[in-house]
Amino acid sequence: MSAYQPGSWALSGSESWRCLLWWWFLSWGLAVGSGDPWMSAEACRSSCSCSSTRISCVDPETGISSFPSLQSDAEMENITDIYIANQSGFSSINDKDLHRYKNLRNLTVTNSRLTYVTKLAFQNNLKLQYLNLKDNNLSSLSWRIFKHLNISYLILSGNPLRCSCENMWIKLLLGEEADIQELRCTEDGGARKLLSRLTLPNCEVPMATLSPSKTSVKEGENLELSCTTSGVPAPELNWSMALATNYEIETSGQISVLRLSNLSSLDHNSKISCIAENIVGEKESSLQLDILFPPKITKLSDAIPDHHWCIPFSVAGNPVPHFQWYLNENEVTEGAYIMTMIHDITEREYHGCLQLDNPTHLNNGRYRLVVTNEYGMDQKEVDAHFMRQPWEELGPDTAYYGEFDFI
Ligand SMILES: *[C@@H]1O[C@H](CO)[C@@H](O)[C@H](O)[C@H]1NC(C)=O
Ligand SMILES: *[C@@H]1O[C@H](CO)[C@@H](O)[C@H](O)[C@H]1NC(C)=O
Ligand SMILES: *[C@@H]1O[C@H](CO)[C@@H](O)[C@H](O)[C@H]1NC(C)=O
Ligand SMILES: *[C@@H]1O[C@H](CO)[C@@H](O)[C@H](O)[C@H]1NC(C)=O
Ligand SMILES: *[C@@H]1O[C@H](CO)[C@@H](O)[C@H](O)[C@H]1NC(C)=O
Ligand SMILES: *[C@@H]1O[C@H](CO)[C@@H](O)[C@H](O)[C@H]1NC(C)=O
Ligand SMILES: *[C@@H]1O[C@H](CO)[C@@H](O)[C@H](O)[C@H]1NC(C)=O
Repeated sequence: MSAYQPGSWALSGSESWRCLLWWWFLSWGLAVGSGDPWMSAEACRSSCSCSSTRISCVDPETGISSFPSLQSDAEMENITDIYIANQSGFSSINDKDLHRYKNLRNLTVTNSRLTYVTKLAFQNNLKLQYLNLKDNNLSSLSWRIFKHLNISYLILSGNPLRCSCENMWIKLLLGEEADIQELRCTEDGGARKLLSRLTLPNCEVPMATLSPSKTSVKEGENLELSCTTSGVPAPELNWSMALATNYEIETSGQISVLRLSNLSSLDHNSKISCIAENIVGEKESSLQLDILFPPKITKLSDAIPDHHWCIPFSVAGNPVPHFQWYLNENEVTEGAYIMTMIHDITEREYHGCLQLDNPTHLNNGRYRLVVTNEYGMDQKEVDAHFMRQPWEELGPDTAYYGEFDFI
């Protein structure tokens, strides 16, 4: 925490702020005045120039070998642009180098000696969109570095890229753009060719196929899914899911079988994915579990006044349950003044109200909700008193919703 941050100004008493101001000028000198006043001149170092959103290091004389660091995390989080050029000592981007530049969008490292980018280099830079690594010393770059990102521009021309399977993804990603950038790769013998012409034996993007591709299974039953993969080199195969149901996985070669036993209705609409990945890329095949189960009322509570009166409920069930209400054992006929309204549908539940428009004492009583589908039914009851009956004495223990001020 240093005195020149805005927070400290506000906190310091009127006596001490003169002193602080003086200290500030003493510490940072008038050089601070030339840039953004909140940017630490020292931290951005003499070889770079910094504004509140951009760092630029282009002076070949006073070279840097890694990204500069700023005084505070807050300052680094404001940076959206880093521009590095003509730095002959700049050779790698490592796991933690850009960790604190969370909002970085544009990164340029050009005409330097960038040779290596580690797998987790951009792990924390989820907003990175524009990446210019032109005219460096990159011979290969793994697609895994960019796996979690949404890069819209990738510029790689002027690098000694090898014609290797590891770089095949660049051709696949860039398509025609590779020719526009005149991207070339170097073969083992030293010949250079257009990356767009690169073909290699034993270098194929993986495929994954999940079967069956659709399922509708009753709760409590078992289900077997198989995933078949292809690709060269042989891809690694992984399943991805978060399930309440117990399962086991048996993999042999390029086929993996997932056995789910005693399917839980909690997993209705859960996603199951099979992922194949190799050096060229990854493919995913997935499905959503459709688990058929009898309805269950998970909530039925006291009436609340909203725009209308509402008897709130939550009901799980697949397929969609049929709703029938009873008031004092008489079937409720729904219409404009009283109706079941579903407000929200989550993975496995329907949340809503029995909505009543201006209920009177005729609507008081015991409400029973019966929900049914082809797999079963459930029911629950709740008492509702909307209005005092005109002839009724209000006893000291009797509370009626209508008597309260709810706002
Ligand atoms: C970051 O940017 C915001 C908005 O532009 C600004 O208010 C804040 O002072 C900046 N923080 C730092 C540490 O530069
Ligand atoms: C890098 O250096 C070259 C020549 O040395 C110069 O032409 C170019 O403008 C420099 N780039 C930057 C961004 O300063
Ligand atoms: C990022 O780079 C792109 C492409 O050069 C440019 O259009 C955009 O203005 C840059 N964004 C920022 C914030 O500088
Ligand atoms: C370029 O990268 C290669 C490794 O791919 C390395 O051996 C070489 O020293 C690098 N060249 C420079 C100038 O850094
Ligand atoms: C990725 O970026 C493109 C354009 O930059 C944008 O249209 C798209 O919505 C983004 N996708 C995600 C998942 O952020
Ligand atoms: C796939 O599973 C292996 C272990 O079987 C694990 O080491 C690897 O990180 C997983 N890969 C992904 C992409 O989840
Ligand atoms: C299946 O799961 C249900 C609920 O999770 C459990 O009550 C039941 O005992 C299980 N049945 C078997 C055969 O494991």
